Amino acid sequence: MNAATLSSRGQWSTHMAFILAAVGSAIGLGNIWKFPFIVGMYGGGAFILVYLVFILIIGTPVMMTEIMLGRRGRQSPVGTMQTLAMQAGRSAAWRYVGWFGMLAGFLILSYYSVVGGEVMAYVFRAGSGAFENQTADGIRAILTRLIGEPEKLLAWHTIFMVLTTIVVARGLRLGLERTVRWLMPALFVLLLILVGYAMSLKGFDQAVDFLFRPDFDRLFYLQDSHGRFVLDDEGQRIFTWTPVMVAMGHSFFTLSLGMGAIMVYGSYLNREVSIFRMTLAVVSADTVVAILAGLAIFPLVFTAELAPGEGPDLIFLTLPLAFGSMPGGAFFGTLFFLLLLFAAWSSAISLMEPAVAWLSERHAARFDRAAAATWIGILIWLLGIVSVFATSGTTLRDVIEPVVKWLGIDGMDFDSRVFSLNLFNIIDFATANIMLPLGGLAMIVFAAWFMRSESIQAEMAMERTVVVRGWRLLIRYVTPVAILFVFFYRLVVSVQA
Ligand code: TRP
Repeated sequence: MNAATLSSRGQWSTHMAFILAAVGSAIGLGNIWKFPFIVGMYGGGAFILVYLVFILIIGTPVMMTEIMLGRRGRQSPVGTMQTLAMQAGRSAAWRYVGWFGMLAGFLILSYYSVVGGEVMAYVFRAGSGAFENQTADGIRAILTRLIGEPEKLLAWHTIFMVLTTIVVARGLRLGLERTVRWLMPALFVLLLILVGYAMSLKGFDQAVDFLFRPDFDRLFYLQDSHGRFVLDDEGQRIFTWTPVMVAMGHSFFTLSLGMGAIMVYGSYLNREVSIFRMTLAVVSADTVVAILAGLAIFPLVFTAELAPGEGPDLIFLTLPLAFGSMPGGAFFGTLFFLLLLFAAWSSAISLMEPAVAWLSERHAARFDRAAAATWIGILIWLLGIVSVFATSGTTLRDVIEPVVKWLGIDGMDFDSRVFSLNLFNIIDFATANIMLPLGGLAMIVFAAWFMRSESIQAEMAMERTVVVRGWRLLIRYVTPVAILFVFFYRLVVSVQA
């Protein structure tokens, strides 16, 4: 190893610490907030099946690749990609993979923090007993009051970002390992309690059916939020590839892949541990939590006759119902949202870490870790204001129409669906479903075709031959083809719905 690949940065105290940090990064709002709402929007069981296939053929090999690259490069993703490319006699332009990932991390954290802020608000709503004996309408009114006031959302978003920035500024070893160690088991137990409660509801069977009996029509044909098929002018159902693309995007999002978060965590990992075993641990924990979240939430949806396709508000409308009517609900509710908040924090930290690692490594003279974290935190906070407004209902149309009017352009048609989208949804869609898969694709193409094979062998020395062979086969052919196919099909065949 030459001097360029050594760094003075910290290492995890044990390999258990790496697992904890990676699990802390993976398990977050993606599992408990996002997974249920996209499952509800895109058709239940068939969506879950496709998602699980992507976790196997895309998520798992990409995670192994990211850990491998990070551990080899031992720097921020930008530095790692550049160093490894140059060692292999390739273009230094590979560092842009790192840049692209940092950009994705910025964008994701900007809205992640707003949702995290909502969770924080719900800790207090639950604690004050606001949910007790509420009807579905009462719960909806509580949510409307929160998101209808941008300054409240802004305040929560600000607190969330400040706390995230403080943890990142203090460095990884402090706090994170210890927090995650008790947090994840506690979250798991609370989810089990919620599932137990959900089993007593009359909507439980329907939920199990919805989640585990794949109906591919629900995956491939456009539906409204209640799951009714949308028909075109000729009364035909409308084919859509969007759900498949969302399932793929989510396999990246939920495992924190494609932007360098796991790569930078891998860079603090020592060589004595098996990358495959680490990956398996993280992937299984993440998947189990997502499925449990689905099992906790959908019985509530069907019992209260809410719309499965409600969208991003789904957990804020369903979980309070459960806490409002179960024994000890105020206690469990507060605890649950608190744990979810911590899970969101440990993910947010990993979204910020690549950029902070880069800034404090590249411009060490001007930025120590704390200064780097502060500046990056401020930038992300500013960007998050967009999502604050979008969450309280500002659409693209509200932004563009006045500008167009002001410019004196007439006759533009704002009725198209595009204009009713809000920027929150657009940022979420573009980052998770486009940027992360592209980032992941670049990483596996690099590892499969450009990196020095001696370097790979050195990193994979701990693995069994069949694992290495299987991984190579996947990252060379199966995974890239799957990613490109999903993109291609969406661009060429599917209606843009
Ligand atoms: N995986 C996290 C979740 O499910 C979110 C997250 C953390 C993430 N770090 C990431 C997503 C890096 C993409 C890339 O909530």
